[in-house]
Amino acid sequence: MKKIVSIVGARPEFIQASPLSRKLREKFTEVLVHTGQHYDPNMSDVFFKELGLPKPDYNLGVGSGPHGEQTGRMLTEIEKVLLKEIPDVVVIFGDTNSALAGALAAAKLHIKVAHVEAGLRSFNRLMPEELNRVLIDHLSDFLFCPTETAIQNLRKEGITKGVFNTGDVMYDSILQLYGKAEKESKILQTLNLTPKTYLYATVHRAENTDDLNRLRSIIDSFAESGETILFPIHPRTRKAAIDYKLEVNRIPNIHLIEPIGYLDNIILMGSAKKILTDSGGVQKQAFFLKVPCITLRDETEWVETVAAGWNIIVGADKRKIIDAIKRFSPVLKQTKTFGNGNAAGKITDLLEKYV
Ligand code: UD1
Repeated sequence: MKKIVSIVGARPEFIQASPLSRKLREKFTEVLVHTGQHYDPNMSDVFFKELGLPKPDYNLGVGSGPHGEQTGRMLTEIEKVLLKEIPDVVVIFGDTNSALAGALAAAKLHIKVAHVEAGLRSFNRLMPEELNRVLIDHLSDFLFCPTETAIQNLRKEGITKGVFNTGDVMYDSILQLYGKAEKESKILQTLNLTPKTYLYATVHRAENTDDLNRLRSIIDSFAESGETILFPIHPRTRKAAIDYKLEVNRIPNIHLIEPIGYLDNIILMGSAKKILTDSGGVQKQAFFLKVPCITLRDETEWVETVAAGWNIIVGADKRKIIDAIKRFSPVLKQTKTFGNGNAAGKITDLLEKYV
């Protein structure tokens, strides 16, 4: 059997890897590597348990650090694993430092690189994720794109070989697990929340957390919105809020909770009136769950959700955020832009054919 090393490290990668890992293991030997970029139990372990992702064969324990240091440590450790395992292909996901380190380590050893969620672009080179995406795509042999826009983005950069539109593995995940979440999750009762009476918010992008004015403007808009805001706070954002003395925990209509697992999360998102976010994955999940999304960034990679009328880009502008909270209400019908929920199957078949 041909061998695949899959590399994960951060929350979105656990979600993306889970449907694919199940399919890959029907046809390949898969070795799973966790870089340890996310390490808190509620940022990592809970996802493995709920998503049925196998226990990693290697945990590199890299943890946090400045970008160069974090990526460098991953590169060193991943190279050791690849030299030992000698896989036929390395599979990486999305745009994290873990994915960049995996792609670079493999490409330098002349091991084929398969990028899941290829071709995404925000065209904002100030985002660490945008630099990662561009570099990863130029290092990859197989580029599995979730949308037609992603294919066009790659074409503009001269990448046309090994490019496939497979649909989005996050769509696979939500289709496979929403029913289970509805049966098993007790989170609405635990938090004493009535569906469609609250807004759900996430903030963790560096452009928002590392800029006092932007973060303050976002938090002020939540405080002044007059709505109940359920805010599972990312550790990066919690730290920033403490450093900037924003005292988010003292704002009466903001309901702060720790980051939560996948199943509870999709129930909380699906039951929200609207979603406020700077996350890429959450914008898509809002779209899949047919919940209006207000994006706290100046641009998005997921332009289809905006074109479909379900996502509005408001940046960190307090007036625009409050206005969208009050007035944004999509009426347009949704389109099937993210495939048919079998992205993992398509990717596995393509790898089987070409590897
Ligand atoms: C990373 C990814 C981003 C992805 C996000 C999902 C990069 C450049 N960014 O951003 O694309 O959307 O993960 O959450 O790879 N921390 C903890 N506990 C943890 C993990 C992180 O306390 O389990 C803290 C660290 O101390 C660090 C901060 O959170 O200071 C940021 O973590 P890091 O993994 O560097 O980036 P994210 O902001 O999570």
